[in-house]
Amino acid sequence: MSLWYIFGLMKSPLLATKSIEQLTREADSDSSGLKRVLGPWHLIFLGVGAIVGAGIFVITGHAAAQYAGPAVTLSFMLAGLTCAFAGLCYAEFASLIPIAGSAYTYAYSTLGEIFAWIIGWDLILEYSLGATTVAIGWSGYVVSFLKGIGVDFPAVLADAPFAFNPQTGVWTRTGALINLPALFVIGLITFILVRGIRESATVNSVIVFLKISIILVFIAAGIFFIKPSLWKPFIPPNQGQFGFFGLSGVLRGAGVMFFAYLGFDAVSTTAQEARNPKRDMPIGILGSLCACTIIYIAFSLVLTGVVPYTELNVPAPVAVAIDAMKLFWLSPLVKIAAIVGLMSVMMVQLMGQPRIFFTMAKDGLLPAAAGKVHPKYGTPHVTTIITGVIVGVAASLLPMGIVGELVSIGTLFAFVIVCGGVLVLRYTRPDLPRPFKTPFVPFVPILGILSCIYLMSGLPWATWSRLLIWMAIGLVIYFAYGLRKSKLRRSA
Ligand code: ALA
Repeated sequence: MSLWYIFGLMKSPLLATKSIEQLTREADSDSSGLKRVLGPWHLIFLGVGAIVGAGIFVITGHAAAQYAGPAVTLSFMLAGLTCAFAGLCYAEFASLIPIAGSAYTYAYSTLGEIFAWIIGWDLILEYSLGATTVAIGWSGYVVSFLKGIGVDFPAVLADAPFAFNPQTGVWTRTGALINLPALFVIGLITFILVRGIRESATVNSVIVFLKISIILVFIAAGIFFIKPSLWKPFIPPNQGQFGFFGLSGVLRGAGVMFFAYLGFDAVSTTAQEARNPKRDMPIGILGSLCACTIIYIAFSLVLTGVVPYTELNVPAPVAVAIDAMKLFWLSPLVKIAAIVGLMSVMMVQLMGQPRIFFTMAKDGLLPAAAGKVHPKYGTPHVTTIITGVIVGVAASLLPMGIVGELVSIGTLFAFVIVCGGVLVLRYTRPDLPRPFKTPFVPFVPILGILSCIYLMSGLPWATWSRLLIWMAIGLVIYFAYGLRKSKLRRSA
């Protein structure tokens, strides 16, 4: 008997749910002030813009060199499959409940308020810490690009003051003071987002076009330099320890490369700004996921086909591959693509986070000031600025590894709840019209839950403990504030 069922029997007020009809009314009313301006292509571009980023430009090389070898391609397939299960569940919810707030809103309508709070709090890990991770990666590429054109950016102003060694669990000083480029890029994107969604989506579309074009050029050029001998053995033999090559290495690689797929769910957070959310949300989510999976498979095959995988454990693995191909003209172009490409990732993350805060504020779980919409630009400017400040501070002071792992575990947890929510709603409200239905229910949601838990189980205990601490802080805030102020509970 599940905990949820036991709570249900107790008719706990913590499990009050918002009715789907109420949510749809809220989505249809113009009172939110958000403008409906996004079409299907905007949404696919938003998805691709959110997905292709630090994962492929920075982390693929590490995963290949340390865990999976050329079989990092299989890791991509495994992680992509997990995301596809979750994506199909997201698409059902996004078309059914086309309102800003994503998994938070889905949990509110299916599992109850306490679960909604938990997921909303958890999503901060995915969106805010996700943007933090990418901003740190962006800073690395900018410094490297500047070095390439003869400008030495002072190292003391381009790194976090502390580093964490996951093997020893020891924090050390790096000698740096602050990561200024990371702070700068977060400030810039926050400014663009406050100015308005139309401008933001258009800027994003141009960036995505550039980023994808350069990646396709890299793949197309690389095909001619592939040495099939570098793919043998495709799955290097295990080195005696779980997770280091062999099949367990492929699994660990999947856990690490999962980061590269994050972002497709961010499309659902703009449901209130989509022109025709019922039709276009599934197109945006699944279309972008599909496109990225194909790109990742081709990209990783080329990367490990032109350079021995052992040489890829560097900050810019793509540059190593280009050097091996002797296509030196491509090198600065790829760096520029990475720099602008990572910006579009951050843009979608920083667009998603304030909209979740915004929805939580509308529900009374956060202070009302967070639910304000800018009178001229029509954007949730208060939450956008608060998010920008928090992410900017985190990105300028924290090391990348620790933040990235928390992003993965937090997001996998969110996916588990979304898949569970689809199952619950199918049984509690089978009558609802579902413009997009997750196929093969209950198998797809169950496979989604299991595959996410499986990837979570591969992450280190230190990451689990950080997640638990974060959740405990969230619950304290909920019981101290949200529980008393919740509009749903007050109206009841
Ligand atoms: N998927 C995003 C990236 O790889 C978060 O940067």
